[in-house]
Amino acid sequence: MALLDGKVGIITGAASGIGAATARTLAREGAKLVLTDLDDAAGSALAEEIGGTYVHHDVSEEDGWPAVIAAAEHYGRLDIMVANAGIAIMATTIDMPLKDWRRQMAINVDGVFLSVKYCIPAMRRAGNGGSIIMLSSVAGLRGSAGLAGYSATKGAVRLFAKSIALECAQAGDGIRVNSVHPGIIATPIWKKIPAGTNHTIDPYAIAEMSVPLGKAGEASEIADGILFLASGMSSHVTGSELVIDGGMTAGRITRLTQ
Ligand SMILES: NC(=O)c1ccc[n+]([C@@H]2O[C@H](COP(=O)([O-])OP(=O)(O)OC[C@H]3O[C@@H](n4cnc5c(N)ncnc54)[C@H](O)[C@@H]3O)[C@@H](O)[C@H]2O)c1
Repeated sequence: MALLDGKVGIITGAASGIGAATARTLAREGAKLVLTDLDDAAGSALAEEIGGTYVHHDVSEEDGWPAVIAAAEHYGRLDIMVANAGIAIMATTIDMPLKDWRRQMAINVDGVFLSVKYCIPAMRRAGNGGSIIMLSSVAGLRGSAGLAGYSATKGAVRLFAKSIALECAQAGDGIRVNSVHPGIIATPIWKKIPAGTNHTIDPYAIAEMSVPLGKAGEASEIADGILFLASGMSSHVTGSELVIDGGMTAGRITRLTQ
């Protein structure tokens, strides 16, 4: 029997990167999935590939949330919410326009807040607990120059997850809530970060220098962690942080050159 047989989940920002890898992994384990994104071509193609449903939705728009939840309940219930959609805007703080700060906050923080606000009632209606997984980052555990606004959003998600874990525990609804903290993962987000500047960021090159394991992570390696949190294998895990970073937050190592 697969790990998620009979389970229904929602993955936001599922058309690319970690969200897409998570969709493939959870579907392989038997989950029925609703995928949301702004990229309709990639989102619909993936939904077709895994036999799920695609809904065009901007996570920061409250009006669209009831339709996303309804799409999940069309499968009969809601058990899993992966609040994954996110953007990263690189700029020193004095150069960051307020509108960019707000856009990043709206997607990375308001979007996660709305995911939780709308998924909990549906999970409670299903009456069998649930698992909420929020994508934070190593940038939510420590600072990053040039990504201060992004770090602020991911730090917010980290403590939001713990607080919601406690709210659900207090309600006794069986819903577990955890955050995931990827390090440098090779996804299209790295091509989007420097928008507006004239340099490129190669995650493989950065990871070689700054990740103790010496390489960038793959989206499927984050998806495996999300699968653990989504499944019954993590039945006693709530309010925790799953760090998947090749050792980045453990400390530094010095590689001796030959
Ligand atoms: N890649 C990394 O190294 C890394 C590291 C740490 C954390 N993360 C986090 O993981 C999550 C996924 O990142 P990724 O690397 O897969 O990025 P990605 O850019 O490959 O995918 C993000 C997806 O979110 C979608 N999206 C953006 N804004 C949206 C909105 N308003 N509403 C709905 N969908 C929206 C995009 O269209 C895209 O499909 C993000 O929250 C990111 O901050 C990524």
